[in-house]
Amino acid sequence: MGVEGRTYNPCRMNNSLERQQQGWSARFSEPVSTLVKRYTASIAFDRRLARVDIRASLAHAQMLCEAGIIGETDLEEIRHGLAQIAEEVETDRFAWSIDLEDVHLNIESRLTQLVGDAGKRLHTARSRNDQVATDLRLWLREAIDEQRRLLRALQAALVAQAAKHTETVMPGFTHLQIAQPVSFAHHLMAYVEMFARDEERLGEVRARVNRLPLGAAALAGTGFPIRRERVAELLGFEALCANSLDAVSDRDFAIEYCAAAALIAMHISRLSEELIVWMSPAMGYIDLPDRFCTGSSIMPQKRNPDVPELARGKTGRIFGHLLGLLTLMKGQPLAYNKDNQEDKEPLFDTADTVRDTLLIFAELVAGLQVRADRMRSAAGKGFSTATDLADYLVRKGVAFRDAHEAVARAVREAERTQRELGQLSLEELRGYADAIDAGVFAELTLEGSMRARAHPGGTAPSAVRQAIAQHQNRLAGAAAPGGPAPPEA
Ligand code: ARG
Repeated sequence: MGVEGRTYNPCRMNNSLERQQQGWSARFSEPVSTLVKRYTASIAFDRRLARVDIRASLAHAQMLCEAGIIGETDLEEIRHGLAQIAEEVETDRFAWSIDLEDVHLNIESRLTQLVGDAGKRLHTARSRNDQVATDLRLWLREAIDEQRRLLRALQAALVAQAAKHTETVMPGFTHLQIAQPVSFAHHLMAYVEMFARDEERLGEVRARVNRLPLGAAALAGTGFPIRRERVAELLGFEALCANSLDAVSDRDFAIEYCAAAALIAMHISRLSEELIVWMSPAMGYIDLPDRFCTGSSIMPQKRNPDVPELARGKTGRIFGHLLGLLTLMKGQPLAYNKDNQEDKEPLFDTADTVRDTLLIFAELVAGLQVRADRMRSAAGKGFSTATDLADYLVRKGVAFRDAHEAVARAVREAERTQRELGQLSLEELRGYADAIDAGVFAELTLEGSMRARAHPGGTAPSAVRQAIAQHQNRLAGAAAPGGPAPPEA
């Protein structure tokens, strides 16, 4: 049942009962106003933590029982009740109530309704402060694992496209001016490097997300003989948060994830920008399948690259969330403050946006239609092999600066007469440097230029094929260091 449809009715229950339902007894003399209730409640957005909240409660209850803090029967009843609640949540039958503020109180209240006193014992040696920090870390750990898998799928799609295009020549640009010929494969593999680093970075963030806050209780720890290591083990945390004040208050782990997500978004946005420009008829290097494009309501001829445009646009909100979270944190004294409830929406939205974008981009890259003829003819223009002519002269014994000057004069002449360098006659070329002989024309071809750059990291087909093979091996094997290999999707 949705939260939105429920309006607060002050006559619905007497004051103390409502307060008790909220989880903090008869300390108060009047109910919160409807407006304040709406303002302070997080149930509309934190209910998506229900599954991890239940998981954490099960581990906490098991530890309480093993430590002799609650009885065996209590544990059994708690397990039974939480299983039913999980089922209700899963099948959308759980009656979320804004009167109960957040996901934790909603679940605890329902548990008590289902199993009575055992439910009331679950919150022993725990606070919502360490509970919510734990939930968030569990939730984010799963999101990170999924996104590392999606990053690998995107890399695999890029590598597969690249494997088809090691000989496809396109102009490489600097300043968006034609610079030197590169292969389309080499260009795509640049993005594989970026997304490989993003995957690695998420693995490093994961290691710091994966620490257990539970046991910190409200802020100072608890007087009960709890076993934090046991809870960590049950929940798959690699370590404990070492200081209880820090455990309940800092959200640096979420901020760090958002920073890593911002870098992913930045990389996707650059790729998007290129796809958009390449698809413009002015370049016409690629086409996107119709399923990634939309038309115009007024101009019948239009086919617009909406998906990459939106991805570029959504980068703005991801950057914004990072700044939002940094700002959320910066003024807070230790330990927990309600400010932290504001961590969820930006975190969730960042993770959702990155996930959807990665999903769609793996498909989009696989569907790219490459117009090799257009790329090639563009690469043949703009004197893209001028550097090769200069390098040729250097190999003939001319000093590089002199070679650079000689070629600049040749380019000027070619431009004046609307020809490419390779279209100048041997005689004309020798007019700029007499070291030139007939072998020069092979060096001025696009293939010759690419083939010359055969060192690791260069654009020669042989070098790019090696890079492709290395990434194929990595993607077929275990995940990058920084976290355990994510299970295959
Ligand atoms: N809904 C709260 C949050 O998201 C849970 C913790 C509330 N703790 C408290 N002392 N009010 O942060």
